[in-house]
Amino acid sequence: MALATARHEFGEHGGINMSIEASATFTVMEPLTMRKMFTGELAPDQGFFIYSRHFNPTVLNLSRQIATLEGTEAAYCTASGMAAISTVLMQLCSSGGHVVASCCLYGGTHALLNHFLPRVCNITTTFVDVRDHEMVKDAIVEGKTTVLYLESMSNPTLIVADLPELCRIAHDKGVKVVVDNTFTPMLLSPVSLGADIVVHSLTKYISGGADVIAGAICGSASLVNSLMDLHQGALMLLGPTMNAKVAFELSERIPHLSLRMKEHCRRAMVYATRMKKLGLKVIYPGLEEHPDHTLLKSMANENYGFGGILCLDMETEEKANQLMSQLQNCTRFGIMAVSLGYHETLMSCSGSSTSSEMNAEEKKMAGISPGLIRMSIGYSGTLEQKWIQFEKALARV
Ligand SMILES: Cc1ncc(COP(=O)(O)O)c(C=O)c1O
Repeated sequence: MALATARHEFGEHGGINMSIEASATFTVMEPLTMRKMFTGELAPDQGFFIYSRHFNPTVLNLSRQIATLEGTEAAYCTASGMAAISTVLMQLCSSGGHVVASCCLYGGTHALLNHFLPRVCNITTTFVDVRDHEMVKDAIVEGKTTVLYLESMSNPTLIVADLPELCRIAHDKGVKVVVDNTFTPMLLSPVSLGADIVVHSLTKYISGGADVIAGAICGSASLVNSLMDLHQGALMLLGPTMNAKVAFELSERIPHLSLRMKEHCRRAMVYATRMKKLGLKVIYPGLEEHPDHTLLKSMANENYGFGGILCLDMETEEKANQLMSQLQNCTRFGIMAVSLGYHETLMSCSGSSTSSEMNAEEKKMAGISPGLIRMSIGYSGTLEQKWIQFEKALARV
């Protein structure tokens, strides 16, 4: 892994952890230096910082770690995953512009593309089934479409995008590919598979603590510099930058992300296999019958398995709620909450929660049944203890 050879930042006094540069603003010894920072002659890479809504040294250090993780030239962290998504889309599209996006996306992203961007920015989106490559091709309007937007593994339906093929289709038509890799950090490296830009909700696996809201944009140095441009940069001008204290906290969690991901994925695979044996309708890309099983295997980095999320389709919302209630309130298998990547298992009924922004037809197109429970499998307790808790709850419903 690239993290093995990444630069290690030391603290101000030789501490083995980096210091937090908490200042909002930075001084200069010579007045002319200020002018040169504003013209770009003196840059953050050379140690010159202007103001923390622009580059901040601690946020830049975390961003370098995230860029290493994703194999991109640069990255910059944001106040949330939605901040990363909205700023990058606004940077890449102008008024009158067009996006082609997967119909299977996190509900918030779907609402941003479907409602907010058309109303506020006159940027429209055509939603497509990314498994249907002809549909993707046909939706691209040459000269108008600038972005193909996907999730590497979709929330909540766990559809895996064929990144090499979709990137080839987009690039043939001069379209940039933006991939949300929130569900599969370490497991998939979208840029090595052809994508131009990766966005993350760091709130999820990368944080792992469910205590921080954060995001990141990974891509070329010229993309990051354009986002920070004093006249035209969406990050600089809309201002959803990350706080340095948050950056420090997250930076401490990157070194064990790999271990956490492996355990999330290992347990999800075991549980999905056992749930299937019990006759439950389980959706998990690690199962051979999942339509994207072979595709994911061909794209995934070794030893990370097939992801830490599985879905159980209980068919009706009522049955889903009964099971979740038992799992939380009686046997303590998991917690009813949205979000993912926490050490405890988190469960939510997607149709009435994180995908409730979609109407009935959109949910049907995305394959979200009313009884679909999304489970982000945790790793606290032993695997067997937790499995007994699952079986007990199931027996009660
Ligand atoms: C796939 C995906 N992308 C983006 C987001 C938004 O991230 P945040 O909540 O950090 O703004 C979420 C949130 O659930 C998500 O699941």
